Amino acid sequence: MIIITGASKGIGKYLCDEYSKKDFDIYGIYNSTFIESSYPKTKFSKLNTTNYDEILAWFQEVKPYLKDITLINCAGINYNSFAHKADVRKWKEVIDVNLIGTFNMINVLLPFMREQSFGRIINFGSVVAELPSPGISAYAASKSALYGMAKSIAVENATKGITINNVNLGYSELGMISEVPEKFLEDIKKRIPSNKLCKPSDIFNTIEYLRNTEYVNGAEININGGII
Ligand SMILES: NC(=O)c1ccc[n+]([C@@H]2O[C@H](COP(=O)([O-])OP(=O)(O)OC[C@H]3O[C@@H](n4cnc5c(N)ncnc54)[C@H](OP(=O)(O)O)[C@@H]3O)[C@@H](O)[C@H]2O)c1
Repeated sequence: MIIITGASKGIGKYLCDEYSKKDFDIYGIYNSTFIESSYPKTKFSKLNTTNYDEILAWFQEVKPYLKDITLINCAGINYNSFAHKADVRKWKEVIDVNLIGTFNMINVLLPFMREQSFGRIINFGSVVAELPSPGISAYAASKSALYGMAKSIAVENATKGITINNVNLGYSELGMISEVPEKFLEDIKKRIPSNKLCKPSDIFNTIEYLRNTEYVNGAEININGGII
């Protein structure tokens, strides 16, 4: 079964739709954008992933229905500001959602995965952790942190049939890219060796590869058209 955070928009919504069409049991998590399911085996819950108690209460409720979990941590936010002008609360919010929220989900689900001797955890990192860009220090910090976090969790759980990997996206056709003004988007495309944004199917195929593979663990998979 699949648990997807950020299931209401962009990449998370796309993955949720793809797995729903393939008749998977799915728990989709959203925060503020209400979403209704048109598939009987797909259930949505409104949860703020930064709120540990909310996640824990949700887990207790759904635990009897969980099995062979793939957790796809798609929930994410961005805050654009030069560091010297940044609002520290907004800066910290990015760390809270992108890093702490991701860890909350992992922390709550890991004991169950260990009991089951199976688990797949896939986090969404970003090319910007390695590619310097102005105004995104919070986002870059939050995504860089996933690097070490995943590696540590991978070695802790490798004997339990559990893998954790980061998918480091470049620039996708879906999701938060819609916030980038057209003028900057053209510049971005020119910097990508393939001159193209990432197709949703390339993300899906990578997730499927990680879902179906046990020996890839603690890895960084770049889906970036060769931009680094
Ligand atoms: N799109 C890209 O080109 C790109 C590139 C690199 C990395 N990524 C990463 O890929 C992931 C998906 O990105 P996207 O572009 O699809 O983003 P998006 O379209 O902006 O969607 C973000 C999702 O995160 C959810 N979310 C935000 N805060 C939350 C919270 N506190 N609790 C629960 N859910 C929360 C949102 O739910 P609500 O709407 O319900 O609030 C929404 O479903 C993110 O981690 C992003 O950093 C994306």
